[in-house]
Amino acid sequence: MSACCEPPEPLQGYDRVFDDRMARHDAARFRRSGLTWDPRRVVELYRAGVVRGETLLEVGAGVGDLTVELLRAGMRRSECVELSGAYDAVAAGLLAEHGLTGRCVRRAGDFAARPGLTAPADVVVLLKVLCCYPDAPRLLAAAAAKARRQVVISYPRDAWWVRLGAAVCAAYPRLRGSDWRFVVHRPAAIRGALADAGLAPVRTERRGVWVLEVHERVAAGAGDRDAVVGN
Ligand SMILES: C[S@@+](CC[C@H](N)C(=O)[O-])C[C@H]1O[C@@H](n2cnc3c(N)ncnc32)[C@H](O)[C@@H]1O
Repeated sequence: MSACCEPPEPLQGYDRVFDDRMARHDAARFRRSGLTWDPRRVVELYRAGVVRGETLLEVGAGVGDLTVELLRAGMRRSECVELSGAYDAVAAGLLAEHGLTGRCVRRAGDFAARPGLTAPADVVVLLKVLCCYPDAPRLLAAAAAKARRQVVISYPRDAWWVRLGAAVCAAYPRLRGSDWRFVVHRPAAIRGALADAGLAPVRTERRGVWVLEVHERVAAGAGDRDAVVGN
């Protein structure tokens, strides 16, 4: 088989970086002070009717704090898929605390490599996940194929100072024997992958390092509807 046709090597050691210590830390932060900026905006956009749907697929869900809040806000059910299995116990605890155990199913695995792990959903969300995966177009193609209505993403800005930070960060996972790297993908590649799948941006927000985008299925020939907030 030629190199171009070989399946990619499975990614190893994500649970050495995204481990149970990080899971406990993230859950404690959520209990203490609620959601961080990008998931909080997703819930606000859901309440405002910009993010729309009854079913959620959250890829790279971490402890699932966004899922908890979207279910509390009115979404009916959710599936979460995580490359690291180290979050599962803590995530189950958060769901139980909020009486949501029966409304969320968690799956472990690489969603880009194994999209059959999950069913389609109205809204597919990937917050701070593209920057944790080397092949953003592949991950986005899998997400778009599952999204009946919208794909919501957040990712770091493509700026020299973010790329410098990514290069510095790379030492840590190497020391822990993990394939995880912080990757700054080109926005054109991100938007191109979603456009190829028939989705267009309807909302773009920027704050600090992060860009949050809502992409929606559009009819052919529809004009630019992207509402941009932030610089
Ligand atoms: C930086 S964390 C963000 C977690 C959560 N979305 C948040 O905003 O707090 C990125 C997560 O994405 C997961 N991840 C990355 N690529 C993935 C993939 N292809 N399939 C499933 N999970 C993935 C990692 O295991 C990690 O837990």
